[in-house]
Order: sequence, then C-alpha cells, then structure tokens
Amino acid sequence: MINTIPEVKRKFDVEVVRNDFPILKRQINGKQLVYLDNAATTQKPQTVIDALTHYYTYDNANIHRGLYFLSEFATEQYENARLKVKEFINALSASEIIFVKGATEAINLVATSLCRNNFFNEGDEIIVSNMEHHANIVPWQLMSDRKNVKLKVIPINDNGELNIDAFISLISEKTKIVSVVHISNALGTVNPIKKIIEIAHSYNIPVLIDGAQAIPHVKVDVQELDADFYVFSGHKVFGPTGIGVLYGKTEYLEMMPPYQGGGDMIRTVTFEKTTFDDIPKKFEAGTPNIAGGIGLGASIDYLNQFDRDELKKYEDNLLKYATEQLSAVDGLRIIGTAKEKSSVISFIIEGIHPYDIGTIIDTDGIAIRTGHHCAQPVMRRFNVPATARASLCFYNTKEEIDKLVVGLNKVKKMFA
Ligand code: ALA
Repeated sequence: MINTIPEVKRKFDVEVVRNDFPILKRQINGKQLVYLDNAATTQKPQTVIDALTHYYTYDNANIHRGLYFLSEFATEQYENARLKVKEFINALSASEIIFVKGATEAINLVATSLCRNNFFNEGDEIIVSNMEHHANIVPWQLMSDRKNVKLKVIPINDNGELNIDAFISLISEKTKIVSVVHISNALGTVNPIKKIIEIAHSYNIPVLIDGAQAIPHVKVDVQELDADFYVFSGHKVFGPTGIGVLYGKTEYLEMMPPYQGGGDMIRTVTFEKTTFDDIPKKFEAGTPNIAGGIGLGASIDYLNQFDRDELKKYEDNLLKYATEQLSAVDGLRIIGTAKEKSSVISFIIEGIHPYDIGTIIDTDGIAIRTGHHCAQPVMRRFNVPATARASLCFYNTKEEIDKLVVGLNKVKKMFA
C-alpha cells in the first residue's frame, strides 16, 4: 500500500526541521557545519536513513524473482516507491516511471535508445541551451558521433536567461528533440519550460526536461507541463545516491528499444532472439538499486508532509536575503542574475580564485562548491574559469548566510 499524502500538512519551522537532518549537527574543523552545497547533493532526513537501514536489516531480498515472503515484500516496497514517484510528479501511469542511477543515466538512456531506434537521420538536430549541465550535452554528442546529428544551442543573455526568440529561430524541419534544463545548477535560472514545451510541440517536437535541480525546490506536474521526458536524481531530493528517475510518456517509452540487456527486462530468451518485457521493466536490466528506490520513496514521504509552497516561499526569501548580503561584499560579482531564480548563487571575487575562497571558508566549517559545476559552456559564456557557488535549501538559515559573509570578508582580508 502506498502511503497516503497527509491532508493536514506539517507546519514548517526551520529550527524543528533542522533536527530531522542529523548531519546538520556535525562539527567540521571544530565549527558548526554550514552546508551550502545543496545543488551538489542534499542532506538526508533521519526517516530516509532509517528506511535504508530497516530494509537492509529486516527486508533484504532480490525483487521480481522469488516466491517467498521476503522477495515479495521487497518487491512490494520497491513498486510502492515507483507509485510514490508517479504521484509526486503526477505521471499518468506508474509504468512511465523508470528507475535509473540518476539524471545523467536517464539522459544517456533516452539518447542511446532513440539513436538505436533510428529516431535520428543523418543531419538531424537536437536543441539544447547554453546553460546545460554536461549531462545534457555529452550524451547527445556521443549519439551525434554515431548519427552525424548536430547540437543547436539556445543562447543566454548577460543575466543568464534563455533567449526564447533565438530558440524559435533555431527550430527547423531537422529538429528532432529539444532537451533543456528546468533550473540551472550553475546560475540558478528557472527556465520557462512550459512555454518551451508549448513552442516545441507546436512543431511536433518532443521535449526532455532535466529537472535535477528543480525537483527539490518546485512542484512538478509532468502532465500539466506536457513534458515528454522529465529526469531527476534521488540524492538531490533528500534521497540516496545511485537512484534516479526517468519519466517518459508511454508512447515514447514503448517505441524505444532497451538501453541495457540482462535479467528482469526480458520476456523470452533463446540464442536466436530475445523478446522484452513491457515498460518499465524493459528499461531496468539487472538487479536494481532496491534500497535506493525505497529510500527515494521515503524522501518523497518526507517532502509530502509539508506544504511545498511554504517551503518554496521560505527558500525564495532566503535567496533574496543571501543575494542582498553577498552583493554587499566589496568586489563580489554574482554570475546569474535572472529575474526567475531558485536557490543558487554563483559568484566570483575580484582577484581571488574560487578554489581559494572554498578552501579558506572550509576551515570555518562552511561547505560551498567551487569550479565549473559541470557546466563549462556557462563559464565560457561569462568569461570566467570557475565560480564559487552557495546553493540553498529549506533547512538553511539567515545565520548561516551571515557566517558565509563573515567567511568571505575574512578571505578578502587575507588577500588584501
Ligand atoms: N551537478 C551537481 C552540481 O551542480 C553535482 O554540483
């Protein structure tokens, strides 16, 4: 039985919520951890940790294979997690939810499978944007090597917003798919994906949305968006690593050939020929990440306790506060100033390499990410080799932002 979503939501109180995440009490270098790298991975509530421990302690068995109690029970829990994901993103059917390793594998699956299906012809084009994570560039390039398919890139303006007119002008009869990010991991820009999908569909072009950064921060309804594919990773939505989701419309998943072969995805095998199971199993070869699926289900239960709009409002206010406070640091420039932003502040400080910023503030227990954020084309667009990036979540506080600002001023003093 799938957990029912509570009708009375838990009231959000940041201090109480922080107690749900045991790691937030950790000391690093003798200082209280200030975790501001949520775009890289989110921390795990105790309920998710408990779900994993409970599964391995009491329920561990392989799924879809045994006629004994434990196997059937593990199967039920894993499939229950699929139902939770289905409801979480409002897919039409649970068979449209494919469990994968993460968003990266999901995009590789779609690109590889479409390529095998002869979906692409010589000279076809794929539209991506200038703000894609490498995971939404490289899988398509690997396919283009095989099919001579070209990437067309939607440009971005100096604030880090997509140029929609340019997008429209890139569309041609050669365009086979549009694949764009919902929220940029490097800039924080929230893209108008509903509009992009509408435009692409008016030319009968399917759209894949990389939702890895969006899913922990905004409610996603794939039917309302009319997305053809939507992908995300479990670990960025308070779940375990090694589990993620490919949502695909049935019409596409059914026409796509398998991505990997092996156990669980077959119907019959002879040395001459193999026939495949129905979706979603067709795409889930081998023993899957059973604990990961169950853990992801627990993370969805965790989020479902809250009014997501309340969490979003808190995060938006925190982003506003952080933007104001960081902007006041002398010599600091924010990269990515879109009107619609979520949870990410990328920045540089004149004369100081981002790696130095990250290393020095780490001595005060402050964790941010520094580098190109797996988005080198974004760095090139803004003519910077790297940025420092603070990425927020609803368990972060204004006090933590203040500590970051103190840390940055300390870095500046050291380099003065
Ligand atoms: N894609 C992740 C990030 O942005 C790892 O940090």
